[in-house]
Amino acid sequence: PGTCNILGIETSCDDTGCAIINDRGELLSEAIHSQHLLHLRNGGIIPDVAQDLHRANIEPVVSQTLEKAQLSMEDISAIAVTLKPGLALSLVVGMKYAKHLARQHNKPIIPIHHMEAHALVARMQHDVTFPFLVLLISGGHCLLAVVQDVNSFQLLGESMDCAPGEVFDKVARRMKLRNVPEYSKLSGGHAIEIAATKATNPDMFKMALPLADYKDCNFSFNGLKTSTLLHLHRKEKEHQTVADQLIPEANDLCAAMLMATTRHLLHRTQRAMQFCEINKLIVNRKQLVVSGGVACNNYIFNSLKILCDEAGYEIFRPVPKLCTDNGVMVAWNGLEKWRQNIDIITNMNALDIQAA
Ligand code: KG4
Ligand code: ZN
Repeated sequence: PGTCNILGIETSCDDTGCAIINDRGELLSEAIHSQHLLHLRNGGIIPDVAQDLHRANIEPVVSQTLEKAQLSMEDISAIAVTLKPGLALSLVVGMKYAKHLARQHNKPIIPIHHMEAHALVARMQHDVTFPFLVLLISGGHCLLAVVQDVNSFQLLGESMDCAPGEVFDKVARRMKLRNVPEYSKLSGGHAIEIAATKATNPDMFKMALPLADYKDCNFSFNGLKTSTLLHLHRKEKEHQTVADQLIPEANDLCAAMLMATTRHLLHRTQRAMQFCEINKLIVNRKQLVVSGGVACNNYIFNSLKILCDEAGYEIFRPVPKLCTDNGVMVAWNGLEKWRQNIDIITNMNALDIQAA
């Protein structure tokens, strides 16, 4: 009694996540239902299928979270829910359920921006202060931004085509990595990371640095995807591989594409650091936060760490399960807004306008 508890709900893509955080920022409980394996079998996310699974799991996931914390809805001060961006059919399930709970128990809703939550959750476990630079790399996004405050994000650059995780997933699928038992349950990006550690001659595959001559902070991954798939195609023809067979150079190709992706990420992050320097956007402490599913990649993270060491930046990364989609980051972002009295919505019509 007297304390506040924020319940967070996340359904923007293929994870049904929920968590409760108290006003001291302590995680009281969390639950997640991942659709990952099913979508892996389907060769990608089918939005209708994702929606059906969110619908089936949202109630149990939220109930489990409350039970684990030994709390009821009466103990909850506000419901934070991801409003955007994401798959429309997925987002609507979390939104509707949050509204239903809010009406039934007379609680306010705190709308959350999925990418902001990815960035801010770094502050839950690490001493990260405003302003800080953030690199968000996932299956749906790639962006660089300066986080000035809980509600103030300055976008420096983003992907002009696809996201790095999306490319990893597509390449892993075309390379048939899933047929290797060791990788069968892993995301494309994770499988490529492990395969790359077994490479012996990654330099046999050449890949150009995307946007090498552009001085902005935008990204492009289409070129890397195309050259990887062309290399793959050439090797498959050369070895006349059949149905489920991998090319013998699979590890080298994975390493080459991971290294090329990393070079591009580093190049753009370095641009962003220079931009922040010139425009005095990062003052006092120089901090880089890396988050999103692709941030789980240790090769990418360690390379960024070297860049940060050289540039005098501290680097922070949430633990892997907070890098990928989860309910904790939504609850945390809800608490950050609650503390500053930002976006506490009691009128549900106002919420619909924000979601549009
Ligand atoms: O943040 P996330 O869970 O969902 C989105 O919002 O997209 O990120 C999922 C993405 C997938 O594309 C997956 O292949 C990638 O993160 N990923 C990785 C690794 N683990 C997950 N990419 C590279 N290396 C990893 N270890
Ligand atoms: Zn995400």
